[in-house]
Amino acid sequence: MDGPSGTGKSTVSRRLARECDAAYLDTGAMYRALTLAVLRSGTDPADPAAADVAVAAAGTLHSVTDPAGPGILLAGEDVESGIRGPEVTGAVSAVSAFGSVRTVLVEHQRRLIADAVAAGGIVVEGRDIGTVVTPDAPLKVYLTASDAVRAARRGRQDARAGRERDTAAVLADVQRRDALDSTRKISPLHAAADAVVLDTDHLSVDDVLVRLLELVNERGLLR
Ligand code: DC
Repeated sequence: MDGPSGTGKSTVSRRLARECDAAYLDTGAMYRALTLAVLRSGTDPADPAAADVAVAAAGTLHSVTDPAGPGILLAGEDVESGIRGPEVTGAVSAVSAFGSVRTVLVEHQRRLIADAVAAGGIVVEGRDIGTVVTPDAPLKVYLTASDAVRAARRGRQDARAGRERDTAAVLADVQRRDALDSTRKISPLHAAADAVVLDTDHLSVDDVLVRLLELVNERGLLR
């Protein structure tokens, strides 16, 4: 599952994994956790030295892939709540643009995916899953939605987490991050040629889930 922020990727990926009795991997949380390590070290996220800090921290990263209780640990510390705030959100695109950071995380993700596939299957969400991480995935979905809808969804998500912000600021943030993620040199965000593109502007989470389950069934992916 790939696509820009605010398309509902996390919600539907997690629910799809539960419905299919599969594992669930949020690769954005991995980039966010390494960004938290960079910020804590006091290094400027745009400085090449940030890549070294992130790569070192990647050695201590642990993803919990149970869709009923996904999580992310950094050196044994649960950092799930610390990675969703504005500081990390503002810096994550810079850290995730470093080639060395992507190389180490993609290797890590491929190992997790191979283990989960052997155990029964996995739903993976991110920006480069269908294009780079698992180009042989049997089902690739690319979720889209208009900027306004994505900003409104992000705004509601932030409000639920106690982070009230005005709509214009959320919209500017979403657009800025997507521009950075889509134009970076290495593994920019784009749909794989063989991805099913779903525009979610007029679809509820349940609608998207129904469509995804149809695709999973059509491709015979349930054992
Ligand atoms: O999905 P998210 O908003 O939590 O992702 C945070 C950032 O991580 C996103 O702005 C770009 C980066 N990312 C990436 O480069 N590649 C991925 N596979 C997942 C996320």
